[in-house]
Amino acid sequence: MRTKYCGNIRIIHLHKFVVLSGWVNKIRNFGQFIFVDMRDYTGIVQIIFHSNNHDIFQKALSLKNESCIQIEGIVQKRDIKNTNLKLDTGQIEILAKKINIFNISEPLPLDYLNNNSDDLKLKYRYLDLRQFNLFKNLKIRNEVTCLIRNFMTKKNFLDIETPLLTKSTPEGARDYLVPSRNYPGKFYALPQSPQLFKQLLMISGIDRYYQIVKCFRDEDLRSDRQPEFTQVDIEASFLNSTKIRKIIEQLIKKIWLKTLNYNLNKFPVLSFNEAIEKYGSDKPDLRNPIEIIDIFDIFNKKKYLDFFEIQPSKKNRIALLCFSEGEKISRKKIEKYCNYVNKFDAKKLFYIKVNKYKLGQDGFQSSIKNILNQIILDKIIKKTNAKNGDILFIMADKKDIVNKSLGMLRIKLGNDFKIFKKNIWKPVWIINFPMFKKNNLGNFSSVHHPFTAFKKNHEKKFFNNLDYAMSDSYDLVINGYEIGGGSVRIHDAKTQKKVFNIIGISKKDQKEKFGFLIEALQYGAPPHAGIALGLDRIIMLLRETNNIRDVIAFPKTTSASCLMTNAPSRLKNKNLNELGINIIKKSIL
Ligand code: AMO
Repeated sequence: MRTKYCGNIRIIHLHKFVVLSGWVNKIRNFGQFIFVDMRDYTGIVQIIFHSNNHDIFQKALSLKNESCIQIEGIVQKRDIKNTNLKLDTGQIEILAKKINIFNISEPLPLDYLNNNSDDLKLKYRYLDLRQFNLFKNLKIRNEVTCLIRNFMTKKNFLDIETPLLTKSTPEGARDYLVPSRNYPGKFYALPQSPQLFKQLLMISGIDRYYQIVKCFRDEDLRSDRQPEFTQVDIEASFLNSTKIRKIIEQLIKKIWLKTLNYNLNKFPVLSFNEAIEKYGSDKPDLRNPIEIIDIFDIFNKKKYLDFFEIQPSKKNRIALLCFSEGEKISRKKIEKYCNYVNKFDAKKLFYIKVNKYKLGQDGFQSSIKNILNQIILDKIIKKTNAKNGDILFIMADKKDIVNKSLGMLRIKLGNDFKIFKKNIWKPVWIINFPMFKKNNLGNFSSVHHPFTAFKKNHEKKFFNNLDYAMSDSYDLVINGYEIGGGSVRIHDAKTQKKVFNIIGISKKDQKEKFGFLIEALQYGAPPHAGIALGLDRIIMLLRETNNIRDVIAFPKTTSASCLMTNAPSRLKNKNLNELGINIIKKSIL
């Protein structure tokens, strides 16, 4: 049905006969001529219909935007005055000799020239996808998955599929459940990840596994989260965490080089604790140069601690952010930032503005003038390298609150003052996460999933102090997005059971939910480790969009529905009966 694609025709094809198939992008009627911009997925080319070719001119008159057509014609050079340098095909046009109208389009419910509501775009996703920018996202996604498959195959990883109708795999979210017709009252869970299957494959002796796989999580959605998303899931036997990270680093560097022509440097590595102390986050955006600087030692005297209303306890912290654009921050803005940190339970935000260091105390403006003397000022300036024009935001509070608040303020300042450079990529490995976290009731849960191994010797060393036990785990963060996470796994049944006990999974549940894993670990399980990369997030970064929906062909809304197909939908009573399901109205629950 075609001899060429619209976007590929150039001046070298002059006088050639071509057959094109595609859509009407735009029509301009000049009386004697009709110009039609014709589009396929490669681009746009101009078709010209002459009124002296009466039959096809009449047909062209009946065309509507977005109609699907086939054109036969001759490539000709455009007049100089009609040359369009913005189009790759802008030097030529096709003189139409024949037109075949496959389908006249009704007026579209989307207006490509103006903003459409998100709901409308999702309802007519198949029409929204006709736009080049969205199509380009899918094209890049395809390039990246091809590259990943090639890379993994070369490294001897086998692409192996794992079941979708399965049992719960705890990754911290709710499961999507599928009722079983054969076993009324029983449910499959869609996998939150193939975690347990990939570990079982290692016990099978597969050695190196990967899969580009859909995962399902029923959790609160954000701009970088979808209920079904895609992981590049990886597992290998007899490799330690450093080796796994090395392979992933090579893969990511290759993706960035091939798709963006960008050379990433060696990825820096930060421990979880360092990341929290310096950036207040385990996914720091390192394009932002502001760091949290500890100044507890400078104020570690009763009178200062009393001023800040904190105790000399290890649980408290005094720290600051030093920001270079202090001159642009008025009192009103300072107030705004003070209010901002209140959101994170911070009591107060103090500041020092360094106007003229040389003038001593007169060269500063500050909300802690009462306790500032030259010695303290000198110490602060020395520790922070603050210059004239800088502003220091100081906080004294519980450690968690200081880290969170200054971490969020760091991001806010970065955004407000646009201190990020464009087209800069800052990957970082965050390693050695705590093994467990405690809730208000003092109960432990896993920080990564419960199959994550302790850092060497930490199981013994911190047995009575599990808060301090670390796991042999790693996350990959790029420009503030967590794009991957993984760990070395527990490969013996005894430790696995111990971890289940610590996080409060009863013996009965251990047997019922993970009995197969515990048993498998007893049959010569090899040491193994792995990681999963969030493919959608990688494409988001490569395409510089901050909405995950832009890189998924048919995404869901933030309330996990599909506006196009109206999923989820109700079932007929007959179907429910077959499944042994009775629907209870929510008000009764
Ligand atoms: P984790 O839960 O960290 O690890 O997931 C791995 C990566 O998947 C991406 N991701 C998501 N992307 C879009 N929408 C979501 N709802 C979503 N949730 C996660 C993130 C994340 O870094 N089984 C382990 C991996 C392992 O230990 O090997 C796991 O799933 O980019």
